[in-house]
Amino acid sequence: MAADKAMVELFRKELELCKVKSGERIGILSEGRVRIDYAEAFLAAAQELGADPFHLNVLKRPGSFPGPGNSLRGHHAAIEALKNTDLVIDLIGLIWSKEQTAITSAGPRMLLVVEPIEVLSRMLSSPDSRRRVEAGVRILKEAREMRVTSPGGTDVTYRFGNFKVVGQYGFTDEPGRWDAWPGSFLWTGAREDGVDGTVVIDAGDMLLDPFMRYVSAPITLTIRAGLITEIAGGGLEGALLRDYMKSFRDPRAYAVSHIGWGLDENASWTFMSTSPAAAHSVGQDGRAYYGNVLFSTGPNIEVGGSNDTECHLDIPLKGCSLFLDGRQILKDGVIIPEEMRVPGR
Ligand SMILES: [Fe+2]
Repeated sequence: MAADKAMVELFRKELELCKVKSGERIGILSEGRVRIDYAEAFLAAAQELGADPFHLNVLKRPGSFPGPGNSLRGHHAAIEALKNTDLVIDLIGLIWSKEQTAITSAGPRMLLVVEPIEVLSRMLSSPDSRRRVEAGVRILKEAREMRVTSPGGTDVTYRFGNFKVVGQYGFTDEPGRWDAWPGSFLWTGAREDGVDGTVVIDAGDMLLDPFMRYVSAPITLTIRAGLITEIAGGGLEGALLRDYMKSFRDPRAYAVSHIGWGLDENASWTFMSTSPAAAHSVGQDGRAYYGNVLFSTGPNIEVGGSNDTECHLDIPLKGCSLFLDGRQILKDGVIIPEEMRVPGR
């Protein structure tokens, strides 16, 4: 069956952003019957660019995205094949797994692609997005302390140690570098005991995977020395959050994880409640939304820490102010530094 023409065209643009060249080896990884249309379109797009693509399909494990039990685990021949490429297109979600690290540390760059086509198309990135994200990364790397406030009552401080600063801009053209399509945003983590204050998840803010819903009443989190010590209010969503975190029976589930802000002017805050495609989304709109703060809880291994609890929540907050060592980066959700702004926004 011929791959969908519009999809091939879109995927070709993405591969061009990834600077795919003639002769490059492209490994496209899928599981079961999931996103087979994407695999076929990537094959066709890579071939158009003169690259040398192959499609590697493994059996799907139930509930394998996201998390440690991904479908590639234990498939040594497949892992070896992917190590021996220049670019891996991950259509299954290896994210934060040892398989991902094994592959990228052998040299290939890797691109995660799991969002619906509507989101991939609307949020297709550009060299200018990369420039703005890299400007943010330079500023965040210098910072010793971040403070986030909001009209709803958030006032929390992160003291930084030596954890990684990660910039995502939706494509990758450097050996060993991981990125996800789509989404332009950046993040890091504080010292493990270095977060104190209050975070108010306000009405209209989001609880992403596994909830994928908006909050209808403010939830107030009290944070002491890097741990959430109280979850108050929030009506239905507050009750869900308390029960969910408790169900892990793991004190490390209450740790504070990565923190950062979004720079993607094409992300939509209302997408999750307005588009049928949202049913298949992992929530990149919320994560990358222009001028958001992405607060999160649980593990910090992705920034170089030691907490590998399986309770991880990404919680995009809208309309916050954010300061790095006293310098204002966001004012009520508006990006202040010129080098990170989209003109007119
Ligand atoms: Fe996260």
